[in-house]
Amino acid sequence: MSYQNVLTSTTNSITTITINRPDKLNALNSETIQELHDAFEAADADKDSKVIIITGSGEKAFVAGADISEFANYSVDEGGMLAAKGQKILFDFVENLSTPIIAAVNGFALGGGLELAMAAHFRVASENAKMGLPEVSLGVIPGYGGTQRLPQLIGKGRAMEMIMTARMIDAGTAWNYGLVNHVTSLEELLPFCNQIAGNITNNSMVAISAAIKAVNANYKDGVNGFETEIRQFANCFGTEDFKEGTTAFLAKRKADFPGE
Ligand code: COA
Repeated sequence: MSYQNVLTSTTNSITTITINRPDKLNALNSETIQELHDAFEAADADKDSKVIIITGSGEKAFVAGADISEFANYSVDEGGMLAAKGQKILFDFVENLSTPIIAAVNGFALGGGLELAMAAHFRVASENAKMGLPEVSLGVIPGYGGTQRLPQLIGKGRAMEMIMTARMIDAGTAWNYGLVNHVTSLEELLPFCNQIAGNITNNSMVAISAAIKAVNANYKDGVNGFETEIRQFANCFGTEDFKEGTTAFLAKRKADFPGE
């Protein structure tokens, strides 16, 4: 499928989704949010796609935020709808996707850009990356999950400071905070993410999607994560992947997971 503002390509079972509005620093307008939803949904449905890397085009920005020009004149109701729809079709959708998603943060990740990176399952940044939630400098607050996911990832005090000051942190600070798992040069960013993705694709994708559900359960209101873990753990015993994984181990050979 082809999109206006999003590029996709799949090699070695790894799909790269690239947000492609470099002249607007890849800012997320509603069209791009819808296209990203469609691209993630298509990759998740594709049996040949086992890991997704999300990144931004150009050397300057991952995503410099939601498109300010689009919502500058919105009313209270329109603002509410913008956040609710965006969270549903993109940010929550990404977090809960069965296919693992790595955010390759290749420059500015601000506002909705950092929120998208935080919705991904984990993050790798290039040395030039700058991350922040600058919304209060515009008279608004993060609306795509930033007030929830940033404290989950770096702790309440650091999140409060970042949100209140609206200041950006550099890649080293983001690594120190645990916001990104690794920092690489800009040239090494995608090769390095592909290397991690390659390590993931050796494993059972059925088990990985169960693990995503169990880990995410820890962050859902009214859901007992330990019970979710027991249920997901038990379900694995009924899968072909489990049979293959345990049989291969006992036969001292490499597992070849059927993905069922
Ligand atoms: N929404 C809409 N357009 C944006 C944008 C956003 N969030 N971020 C950048 N752009 C556009 C700029 O308007 C400019 O467009 P133009 O060339 O048509 O004027 C283009 O992208 C390049 O940005 P520019 O500001 O000229 O680049 P810079 O290197 O001087 O500054 C930033 C980079 C990231 C510091 C600056 O663009 C910025 O502060 N962006 C907004 C960040 C933000 O507040 N995000 C949260 C939104 S809720």
